[in-house]
Amino acid sequence: MVNSACRDGRAVGAFNVITLEHAEAVVTGAEAVGCPVICQISENAVRFHGGRLTPIARATAALAEAAAVPVAPHIDHVTDEGLLRRAADCGFGSVMFDASALPHAENVVATRAAARWAHAQGLWLEAELGEIGGKDGVHAPSARTDPDQARDFVSATGVDALAVAVGSSHAMTTRTARLDHGLIARLAKAVPVPLVLHGSTGVPDEELRQAVAAGMVKVNIGTALNAAFTGAVRGTPAAAPATADPRPALTAARRAMADAVTSALRILSGGG
Ligand code: G3H
Ligand code: ZN
Repeated sequence: MVNSACRDGRAVGAFNVITLEHAEAVVTGAEAVGCPVICQISENAVRFHGGRLTPIARATAALAEAAAVPVAPHIDHVTDEGLLRRAADCGFGSVMFDASALPHAENVVATRAAARWAHAQGLWLEAELGEIGGKDGVHAPSARTDPDQARDFVSATGVDALAVAVGSSHAMTTRTARLDHGLIARLAKAVPVPLVLHGSTGVPDEELRQAVAAGMVKVNIGTALNAAFTGAVRGTPAAAPATADPRPALTAARRAMADAVTSALRILSGGG
């Protein structure tokens, strides 16, 4: 999916799934625009489920199989090698191994080992170089990935895609990130595998369009769905305070997340 988007000069939207409703919304939102999509489950989301990967993974896989568009379940930001192994057992076709918080030499060694293991299982592996901020609540918009170091990293590790720091930051609740488009173009030229933009919720639409034009191929969006979910839930039950049924609020939340997915995919596919 990512390689074919790369060949066509498009980007694939990769949306973070926490609950069943997130996964349903990603599929519904992608079907509305007829776009292939990635449903990704992060290590944090697995932690939310008490460390259990299988239930949310099976639900996502079942939705993917029944979808009217191609849907690829993916594992996101894994630091625990045990979880990588469980992802392979759960039938995922791709994983992101994130050793970017380690010193550079250790990131190379750990990522090389993860990529070798993943390829032996037939898995596609994404890694990260130049720590993208916000994962621990601390934004670091000035973090940058060096193109020469990125080329060497890919050659030393054999990864299939590379997440790079170009001005975005995770979990932003305002769309005020400013990307370094010149750097994206230099990275796209230097690095022989598709580039991945993380923390894309904070990136304004026009910046996203330019990032795709400059060479971003997989665009990760998480917080935008959570903001849509939470906003819809907050807006719903006041009308019926006596009901204990969570479904009106969850229905509104799922609709709002699907709309967020659809509008992001319109931007990424060159419309919108
Ligand atoms: O890996 C997930 C993404 O980078 C999501 O970032 O929640 O800031 O959109 P975001
Ligand atoms: Zn991320």
